[in-house]
Amino acid sequence: MKINLFEPYIDEAEEKAVLETLRSKFWASGAGIGNVSKFEKKFKQYTKADECLAVNSGTAALNIALSLLDIKNHEVIIPSLSFVSTANCVLLNGGIPKFIDIDPKTLCMNPKLIEKLITKKTKAIIPVHFGGFPSDMKKIVSLSKKYDIKIVEDAAHAAGSSFCKKKIGSHGFAVCFSFHPVKNLGMPTGGLIAINDSNAKKFKARIEAKRWCGITNRNDDRYEIKEVGDNYYMNEISAAVGLKQLQKLNKMNSIRKNFAKIYEKELDIEMKMPFTKDCAYHLYWICVKNRKLFRQKMSEKGIQTGTHYQPIHTFSLYKNNVKLPITEKIGKEIVTLPMHPNLTEGDLDKIINLTNRFSG
Ligand SMILES: Cc1ncc(COP(=O)(O)O)c(C=O)c1O
Repeated sequence: MKINLFEPYIDEAEEKAVLETLRSKFWASGAGIGNVSKFEKKFKQYTKADECLAVNSGTAALNIALSLLDIKNHEVIIPSLSFVSTANCVLLNGGIPKFIDIDPKTLCMNPKLIEKLITKKTKAIIPVHFGGFPSDMKKIVSLSKKYDIKIVEDAAHAAGSSFCKKKIGSHGFAVCFSFHPVKNLGMPTGGLIAINDSNAKKFKARIEAKRWCGITNRNDDRYEIKEVGDNYYMNEISAAVGLKQLQKLNKMNSIRKNFAKIYEKELDIEMKMPFTKDCAYHLYWICVKNRKLFRQKMSEKGIQTGTHYQPIHTFSLYKNNVKLPITEKIGKEIVTLPMHPNLTEGDLDKIINLTNRFSG
């Protein structure tokens, strides 16, 4: 039997919720049966954010969050070892991505390098909580206050982590989550922007318009458009799944943490993801010298692995003269191992034994 890299963790609860929503015949939010607004309410309670607005992907969440900050011709500091949406949101809003190198232990942005990159043009910083591992928010928050820079957290890997809850850890102006099917909280398609700001109510109204083509002030047969928007709203079927997933998010994350603890202890590899109870472990990474051969051998034994990620500054759209030695080295060696709550003890033993055998 093949062992998948990622898998959603579902049961009859999600099946029933989807069927009920399908049969309601109201699938779009707004015209729907209220799953989206219920999900927003529950996620707000869960994260203690000032406002939570559901959208249809993590990409949409980042695009909207950046659009609130008037970054045109301004710089935004981002890591390069991430999914390309972390950078696309900057370009799409007319900003200039400034890539920063990562800490080789956590693969999150290296906080010691941030201050050197800050200029008069810096408007925002996007820490990516890589694999669910917390970025050094203490340092990032103190720099954001010193230089009046906004923080937009890319928490695509970090749903359910304690540090993404306001009052416990997260202090980004916006915290952007992805509910892509293989994320810690999975939906057919989904994302969410959590806003932490004294003007959260105003931002909420703008996001509501921006996630549906700019439409505001709906009144009988009239509505108004003041700002441009996109078709980013979450559908009721995704929210139905999300409501069930949210109920079991802590359980799913504690299974992931348990697996990560075992990987960290049992893998005989120098470069591997460290263990901390604060990490949501969306993925588990190791570094190997001959990645192609390692992945091929694992695949022959029925174990799927991944490479997260090709560094963004190596794509032709983003190529410039920036040198990021740690990112470039890790980008060539990183491999992700299966990580999802459906793994069995037997799966884990097999993955660990074969990884130890093939990684040398
Ligand atoms: C770090 C990171 N940011 C953003 C995204 C975008 O999320 P989505 O796929 O929901 O658009 C992803 C998704 O894979 C991601 O891994």
